[in-house]
Amino acid sequence: MDTSSKSTTFSSRSGISRTGLEARLFARPEGLPAPGDFEITEVAVPDPAPGQVLVRNLFMSLDPGMLMLLAGRPGLPMPRYEVGEVMHGDAIGEVIASADPSLDEGDLVMHRLGWREYAVARAGLFRRVDRDAYPRPSTYLSFGLVAYVGLMDAAELRPGDTVFVSSAAGATGSMAGQIARLKGAARVIGSAGSRDKVAHLTGSLGFDAAFDRHDGPIVDRLREAAPEGIDVYFDNVGGEQLRAAIEVMNPHGRVAVCGTLGRRSEASPGDLLSVLVKRLTLRGFTVGDHLERAPEFGAQFRTWLREGAIVHDETVIEGLANAPQALLDLVNGAYTGKTVVRLGS
Ligand SMILES: NC(=O)c1ccc[n+]([C@@H]2O[C@H](COP(=O)([O-])OP(=O)(O)OC[C@H]3O[C@@H](n4cnc5c(N)ncnc54)[C@H](OP(=O)(O)O)[C@@H]3O)[C@@H](O)[C@H]2O)c1
Repeated sequence: MDTSSKSTTFSSRSGISRTGLEARLFARPEGLPAPGDFEITEVAVPDPAPGQVLVRNLFMSLDPGMLMLLAGRPGLPMPRYEVGEVMHGDAIGEVIASADPSLDEGDLVMHRLGWREYAVARAGLFRRVDRDAYPRPSTYLSFGLVAYVGLMDAAELRPGDTVFVSSAAGATGSMAGQIARLKGAARVIGSAGSRDKVAHLTGSLGFDAAFDRHDGPIVDRLREAAPEGIDVYFDNVGGEQLRAAIEVMNPHGRVAVCGTLGRRSEASPGDLLSVLVKRLTLRGFTVGDHLERAPEFGAQFRTWLREGAIVHDETVIEGLANAPQALLDLVNGAYTGKTVVRLGS
């Protein structure tokens, strides 16, 4: 990775010299990316043209979904990363110059122009959010909404359900387990990749039971944790954990298929005869199809945070230059909760 950003500075149209870092895809990776597949460069930041705003980014999201955009497989729910172009992703920033009446200097905005310290674009691409949101602006990058719609819409969670969540100490999983409980689940079980994460699940996050996914056959661990079976599986990983969930699932159980982190190349999700006999539902979802839930969830989430009813863990990576390596570390299980990158100074 070339993190030795060029020292040249440029002049913007107003005569004030402003430059910022941005990350481009240097080469499309075969399989998992390496830091050398990214290029960090320093570029001139122009003033906004009429109808545009200039935003100084404060935080951007890092998430495993970015691996799919790097690989560029067809059929993705959003545009893939193109070689030589600046990458994109969720970010939150502050408007520092506006040439559009819809946004003012000082507004806090959410948008999809991450992987850069400054974003200059038409105002319609930015959504104003509450500057004073409790407890901090970076929580706008939470994956709580993903967990919420996965549970409520895809899995049709019911009070009294026993819920199993994989990658449960991660951004989505940690929210899914806690929201399931807040919405009436009777028992919540999580799997994660280390002893420390397992202790965190049953400690601060209030899961009833948890196990390390490396500790022997998943199906055995799941049966021990859920002797009466499970009703809902919030699936972040696919593969062995999905197969185990299908085996341990009660009749009329529901699976919300959120992600495929642990899936190898196998074509079948698991024992489809069990799916048939037990009348199970497996429903894939993408959060983008459920954005009408955002206001309802946002209000609920802020209340839960203020009341201390939900824990929002966050890992903060410092600086865009460290983001490519952090993305690799993230998918290798190095972090807990939502991972964000603090941009600029
Ligand atoms: N459907 C949607 O709209 C939507 C939206 C956002 C995210 N997602 C998906 O949701 C999933 C979770 O995303 P996230 O941002 O919350 O990530 P995350 O869970 O915070 O981070 C990734 C975690 O995956 C686990 N992991 C890595 N390799 C694994 C494997 N082979 N088997 C099992 N677990 C493995 C690691 O946790 P451990 O060390 O604990 O195992 C790692 O910490 C991803 O698949 C993502 O693409 C879907």
